[in-house]
Amino acid sequence: MNMDIERRATLNALIDREQERFLQLHPRSAKAWEEGKQHFLYGGPSHWMRRWAGGFPVYVEEARGAHIRDIDGRDYIDFCLGDTGGMCGHAPEAVTQAAVRQLGRGATMMLPTEDSLWVGAELSRRFGPRYWTLTTSATDANRGAIRISRMITGRTRVLVFSGCYHGGVEEAHVEIRDGQIGMRNMIHPNGIDHDAVTRVVEFNDIDALEAALSQHDVACVLTEPLMTNFGIIPVDDEFHRAMRDITRRTGTVLIIDETHTISSGPGGYTQLHGLEPDIFVTGKAIAGGIPAGVFGLSPEIAERLWKIVPYVNPRERQSAHLGIGGTLAGNALTVAAMRAVLESVLTPENYQRMIANATRLAVQTRDIIDARHLPWHVTQVGARAEIMFMPKPPHSGADVIAGRQGEMETLLHAFYMNEGILVTPFHTMLLMCPATSADDVEKHAVVFSRFIDLLRKAGVV
Ligand SMILES: Cc1ncc(COP(=O)(O)O)c(C=O)c1O
Repeated sequence: MNMDIERRATLNALIDREQERFLQLHPRSAKAWEEGKQHFLYGGPSHWMRRWAGGFPVYVEEARGAHIRDIDGRDYIDFCLGDTGGMCGHAPEAVTQAAVRQLGRGATMMLPTEDSLWVGAELSRRFGPRYWTLTTSATDANRGAIRISRMITGRTRVLVFSGCYHGGVEEAHVEIRDGQIGMRNMIHPNGIDHDAVTRVVEFNDIDALEAALSQHDVACVLTEPLMTNFGIIPVDDEFHRAMRDITRRTGTVLIIDETHTISSGPGGYTQLHGLEPDIFVTGKAIAGGIPAGVFGLSPEIAERLWKIVPYVNPRERQSAHLGIGGTLAGNALTVAAMRAVLESVLTPENYQRMIANATRLAVQTRDIIDARHLPWHVTQVGARAEIMFMPKPPHSGADVIAGRQGEMETLLHAFYMNEGILVTPFHTMLLMCPATSADDVEKHAVVFSRFIDLLRKAGVV
């Protein structure tokens, strides 16, 4: 017990030291942050931006390819890539050109352009034959998918897995902690009665899933193919087959959210592993950083929806409202950017390079961990790698809650930033884009080794 307190005190002292170093290295960003706090609710244009481990975010001068330069003139290898929104790399030529061309011809008209025909066909070619809807974010795509699931089943509840994150979706802001269902780590309650709208079970727990769906009162299961937002929680071999079987038997819609696992390959995890979601969701990188999400209904689900909301009846136009937001959804600018991404950026060749670099990074990092006999591990999902300070990959959210070392993560992230590396602030995810180079990966290995030296010197490992 005392040793644990001592160790945590040492870690906190090291965090203080790295944050002080960060402040010294970033005087202009520090000043900008103080100014931003006078106008923005949480300091920056998005509340997420206050969560960087240095104590404040760096302000960006320019982002290009896999690198960012901040206003203090410092360069970073960007493995955060806007927490996946930048997975195409920053300012990819094809997207920039397509976006500029479309901006000159009109950004949003509440009318389709011919690019959308190409995009719809390509989405079906990659992710399976479906009927697609574009949104302005993955959050909105998930909300749309949930709403349609409720409409066609007449049921209210949504089942999610403990430790999940699906964006600003109230139903998914829950987790199991000490056997109790509560709000997901650090999300503040807001009066929503989760008992009425949500069921939550542990990932990979087939029996719990069966029990939770057996009352036939759940509209949909909303899940990633494997979990990426609580560190990476790999999926058991038999889980997908069982989940598909139970959801079919109980008349529950299965929504697979591939917002992050799109890192798996050109057709996502779904295509790679032959999954059969009723509704497929993705977003973030799909339009090269221009806000976008998509959801696609299987033909069977679309048929059920069309029975409730008929396809076309011009005389009853006002009754055909789907209750899904998005005046700007599917706008011409987004569609043009999405076409450029699918045609020229997230190509099989680029995925090959990204995945090869992620494999190199994962192998190198594992070798460093093994050589120092540390109880940590690295997982990989295509172009995405994750370092966790636990001996082996978690099997469920409960394992993450039991084993996660928050201070160690904060220290690593602050150290990374001071050494010129960015990773996603919420856990240690390192993502490759087409422009990530072998040198970038090599530099990571050097910095990660130095981090362990720092811990050794302080007697933490
Ligand atoms: C799996 C998953 N779904 C949905 C979202 C929400 O994406 P956005 O914030 O772009 O709406 C996220 C965000 O991290 C996510 O990880």
